[in-house]
Parts: sequence; C-alpha cells; structure tokens
Amino acid sequence: QRSIWLSRHGESEWNVYGKIGGDADLSPRGEAYALKLPELVKQSFGPGEDHPLTVWTSTLKRTIATARHLPQEWNQLQWKALDELDSGVCDNMTYAEIKELYPEDFEARDQDKYNYRYRGGESYRDVVIRLEPIIMELERSENILIVTHQAILRCIYAYFMKEDQEKSPWLNVPLHTLIKLTPRAYGTDKEVFKAGV
Ligand code: F6P
Repeated sequence: QRSIWLSRHGESEWNVYGKIGGDADLSPRGEAYALKLPELVKQSFGPGEDHPLTVWTSTLKRTIATARHLPQEWNQLQWKALDELDSGVCDNMTYAEIKELYPEDFEARDQDKYNYRYRGGESYRDVVIRLEPIIMELERSENILIVTHQAILRCIYAYFMKEDQEKSPWLNVPLHTLIKLTPRAYGTDKEVFKAGV
C-alpha cells in the first residue's frame, strides 16, 4: 500500500513577520519542527511499516532546512516546480503592505483568489498547471514525502482528496503538521500528525 506524506516547511522568519514569498531561513520554532520531523514520520508509520521515503523539497531554503534531519540514506530531490506561488511585485510584503500599495489588486484577489495572478507572478490556476508533472510523477512513485509551501500543498492536497481545484486557495494546511494520504479503492485515507512545536 503506497502513501504520500505532505508537510509545509517549518515556520520561517517571514511567517513570523507575516511577509509572503521570499527565501527566508527557518525561525527557532521552525528549526524545532525540522528536528521533530524524523520522529513524526516514524510515528506515522503503520504497524510493521518501515521503509525509506523519497523526500521532495522545493529549491527554497526553508523546505531544504526542514528536511535536513531526515535519515541521510533517504534520497532527496529539489523541484523548482514545488517553489511557493510566485507573488511577483508583492514578494516579501505583508498583506497590509499589499493592501496599502496595491488596493485594487488586494480587492481583486479577494474577489477571485483562484484566478487572481500577482503582477509579475502567478495565480493558483497557474500553480495547478505547473504542478502537472509533479502529480504525474507522484502517481507513478511510491512513498514520497513532500516538504513544500502552503499554496502548493493546498493544490496537491485538493488533487488527492478529489476536491474541486477552485477551492484549493481556502483549504487549511497548517504549519508543523504531517499529513499522510493513502489512496484506496473507495477514496483517500487521511491521517494527521501534529508536532506540537
Ligand atoms: O504566508 C505564507 C505563504 O506561503 C506565502 O508565501 C504565500 O504567498 C501564501 O502563504 C499563500 O497563501 P494565500 O494564497 O492564502 O495568500
């Protein structure tokens, strides 16, 4: 029985300041999650389940740092296609700053979050398209752990849970939580493991 493990990166310095995008390091809490992740993965294994996982991260520092305490012998692969939704000119800004500088864009995103494309950046719809090769690779792989970003995980999660992709921008994918998805004949089983850090 194959499963897919999903996790956001540990809390980053930008998460602490409420800034979006960027390529920040982990915060101290985020580092604590990275240290806890190997144990959390072990906890997620069913009885008798013990095998290596292949770890996929984005190319951004916060996902690589989150995966770095996982067993050395597990293969790790970095995918550009797993980088966070590109927020273009709004990269590294807080939502309050965006509202102040680009009030019309802020409103437009609120009206249609799935289709709204940041100036010089991406929409959720764009992300769903760029994730196609990832989804195809996932469909033919076994036991992958993906450490990536909020918007990306929402789209991957929606795909496997057979949720309408247009709902993905509002799905709740919290920090410091490991999700194990096991596709079965009748649907996908979901187990959630909280790190408590
Ligand atoms: O705040 C963290 C973050 O991953 C940002 O980098 C990203 O722009 C945002 O979440 C995506 O969430 P939303 O689409 O709800 O703004």
